[in-house]
Formats: sequence, structure tokens, C-alpha cells
Amino acid sequence: MKNLAVIGAQWGDEGKGKIVDLLCQDYDVVARYQGGHNAGHTVKFGEKHFSLRLIPSGILHPDKLCILGNGMVIDPEALLDEIEQLRGLGVTIDNNLKISDSAHVILPYHRALDLAREEAAGEAKIGTTGRGIGPAYETKVSRYGIRVADLLDPDVLRDKIEFACAEKNPVLQGVYGKPPFDPRKLFDDYTRFGEVLAERITNGTVLINDEMRAGRSVMFEGAQGTLLDIDHGTYPYVTSSNTVVGGICTGLGVAPKHIHHVTGVAKAYTTRVGGGAFPTELNDAHGEHLRKRGNEFGTVTGRPRRTGWLDLAVLRTAVMLNGIDAVALTKLDVLDEFDEIPVCTEYNVHGERWRTFPAFAVSHHDFKPVYRTFKGWKTSTAGVTSYDDLPPAAKEYVRFIQDEAESAIAIISTGPRREETIVTTS
Ligand code: GDP
Ligand code: IMO
Ligand code: MG
Repeated sequence: MKNLAVIGAQWGDEGKGKIVDLLCQDYDVVARYQGGHNAGHTVKFGEKHFSLRLIPSGILHPDKLCILGNGMVIDPEALLDEIEQLRGLGVTIDNNLKISDSAHVILPYHRALDLAREEAAGEAKIGTTGRGIGPAYETKVSRYGIRVADLLDPDVLRDKIEFACAEKNPVLQGVYGKPPFDPRKLFDDYTRFGEVLAERITNGTVLINDEMRAGRSVMFEGAQGTLLDIDHGTYPYVTSSNTVVGGICTGLGVAPKHIHHVTGVAKAYTTRVGGGAFPTELNDAHGEHLRKRGNEFGTVTGRPRRTGWLDLAVLRTAVMLNGIDAVALTKLDVLDEFDEIPVCTEYNVHGERWRTFPAFAVSHHDFKPVYRTFKGWKTSTAGVTSYDDLPPAAKEYVRFIQDEAESAIAIISTGPRREETIVTTS
């Protein structure tokens, strides 16, 4: 069995959780390689509903080994909460969940800094999830970060927490007027987290490479989306990790030759949460319809998501950056009631044609999306499981996307549940 990466092809919340859950039955290991509990991956089947944040969606299948890779930033408190919540829903979590000892730890001062900066930035705020993700990655790159392994070494942990507080407290107090953190309390709390998590902490790189050497197959579960990538996204309105396929190599210690296939997950329209350019955004009744019918409210923060038409320049960019072999097109059913469905085929940026997303910093106003309008199908596709049963206008829409993105649409999702899916290569 070949290894598969499942990656968000837009600005996150494309339905990665559903697709990972659907496809992971064929894999032995499911691993996250970046991000933290800024992610919110929803999985539904039957009457069951799960929301995964740090833990790979594969955890819902008890025979999968789930790994939190070194490229992640982990808030131990959030992880323990998630484990408890999932156990409360009947999910088995014992030896099937491992944490890389080299992943970085989010501490409360990271969260406080994230929130304080956003508050101070006012209108210019990024619109982060407020989970401390950015500041934790900053500390990692500064080389003074606390890694998961450090939770198991009291002397190292004490020194590192004291050093961090000596630096972060004056910033929190002096710059932002926020309360400081007591290093002794942090030390006690994080030592305890280390004790509880100890049995799960391991050399994640050796573990995953041993698994592959033993012939087991791996699914790499992306979080966020391609245009939220720190290097390739709509900087500065991005997250702080490499969400694109390259992040797998560094975020798990997996060589490129082990990434055999890439599935990009894209909604049949577009959403984003937080600030930043969104050329096809709709601030009208159509946008509201997408939000209501698509239930476009953040899994993590409950914020209403911004909504807009499908943007092929975004999808092409994702295909290029990730080498996407197949697209999983989600939420087709959300478009069922529209009379007409415009799709952005390219942009006019100051008179120039752009078929991919411009990498330079651009404001909303620099883009003029060029649309091609499709006739709506005005028929319910909700729950359809066979391509043949789609209305002709929906087939035309899907075919156009496939041709323009130059990538096969292998999966069409017609509802939030696992069973509401069309698997096709047409
Ligand atoms: P992720 O972060 O990429 O895993 O996506 P989220 O779970 O944050 O957001 C996707 C939302 O759309 C969730 O509420 C899913 O239950 C829902 N969803 C996924 N696929 C479909 C679909 O095909 N149709 C509809 N109506 N909802 C879907
Ligand atoms: P999943 O995995 C959608 C967005 C935030 C904000 C920016 C930076 O569920 O698709 P951060 O807290 O990461 O510093 O926020 O990134 N963002 C997401 N948007 N889905 C996500 O995850 C996101 N994770 C972060 O809204 O704009
Ligand atoms: Mg999400």
C-alpha cells in the first residue's frame, strides 16, 4: 500500500477530517506533521460526531497507530482534554497514540502573547485562533523552545521555563499590560503533564520510519490549508507552519520518496476564517446562503467563516505546490439551490492575467476575479453516492473544475457523513 498525503487545497476547513476518516481504513499509520490545536477536523458517521484538534482523525479507527509529529506545536493541556473528550465518546486511546519527543510545547505565555498581539493590532489583526501557535513557532525558531522531551527532564524544564518567563513576562507586562506568569507554577503544571504523557513520548522519526520499513502504510494528515502556509500562503494572514506537502519531510522526518500520492481537499466553493485577501469573497445574500447551508462556523472558535465562489487560481496553486494527484471535492450539496454558480477562472491584477495566486503581498482591491458562470442544478445532491446520479449541470461543474485544475477529481463529497460520498475517477 502506498503512502498518502491529505492536504487542504484552500484556506483550511475543506473537509480534511471527513476525507482522512474515509480513506484511512486502507492505512496502518496516520500522522500529523504541522500545526496544533488551531486545527478542527470534523468526522461524522451515522449519528456520531467528532471534532479532532491535535489528534489525527485516524484515532477513530482503533487499529491505526496515530503519531503527532515533531513539526507540530502541542499544548499538553489541550491534548489531555481532547483525549478525555474522545474517551468519553467511546474512542479507544491507549498504545495507538504516540507523540514525537521533538515536537514543541505551547505554554500559557504563548497563548497570552497571541491574544495580546491580536488585541493590540486592532483592525490589522491576523484573526488567529488565539491558541498560541505563532508565538510557539517563534520560540522554536529562536532555539529557546521547550520540546516534548524536556517535559521529562525536571532540571532542563525548570531552567527553560525560568529563562522563558524572564523574557516573556516583561513583554507581556511592559508592552501589553498583561499579567506575568509564575515560573514555579508553570514548572509544576508542565512536570505533571510530562508524567501523564510520558508513555506516549517517543522518537517519532524512528517510529514512523520503522513502521514504513516493516511494510506498513502511512497517511499524512495535513492541517490548515495551502494558502495558510507560512511561506506560500497569503502572508502575513497565514498560520506559522508549512502546511504544504514539503512540511511532511521536516515535520515527521520522512524522506520525499515515501510520499507516494497526494490528495488535495477542496470545497466546491471557498471559505476562510480570519483576515487576509479573499478575491472571490461574497458579502451578500449568496455569501450568507453558503454560510447557512454549509454551516460555515469555525470548529475551533465558532467564528462565522467568510464565504465566496470557487477560485481556480487558488486550486491551481495548491495543485502546483503539493503535486496533487487527485482532488477530493467537498460540499457540492451546499451549491444545490443556486440559480447560477460563478467560478473564478483567473485574476486580472493591474491589467495582468494571473492563473495562480500571486505570491506578493496584495490587498483585496488589487484582484479582479474573472468569472465563468454555470447554470445551477436546483436539485438535491445531498447524500448522493454515485456519479451517475448527479444532475447533468453538477457533472458539468465538476468536469470543468477537473479540467481547469488539471487534476482528477477522485472523490466528491455530498454531505458531512462518511457514507455521503461519491468515489469516482471520471
Ligand atoms: P477540516 O478542518 O478540513 O477537517 O474541515 P472542518 O471539519 O473544519 O469543516 C468542514 C465542515 O464541513 C464540517 O462541519 C464537516 O462536517 C462538513 N462537511 C464535510 N464535507 C461535507 C459535505 O460534502 N457536505 C456538507 N454539507 N458538509 C460537509
Ligand atoms: P483546519 O485544520 C481554517 C487560520 C486562522 C487565522 C490564521 C492564523 O481545521 O483546516 P493561527 O491560530 O494558526 O495562528 O491563525 O490561520 N487558521 C485556520 N483556518 N482552518 C484551520 O485549521 C485553521 N488554523 C488556523 O483563522 O486566519
Ligand atoms: Mg477545520
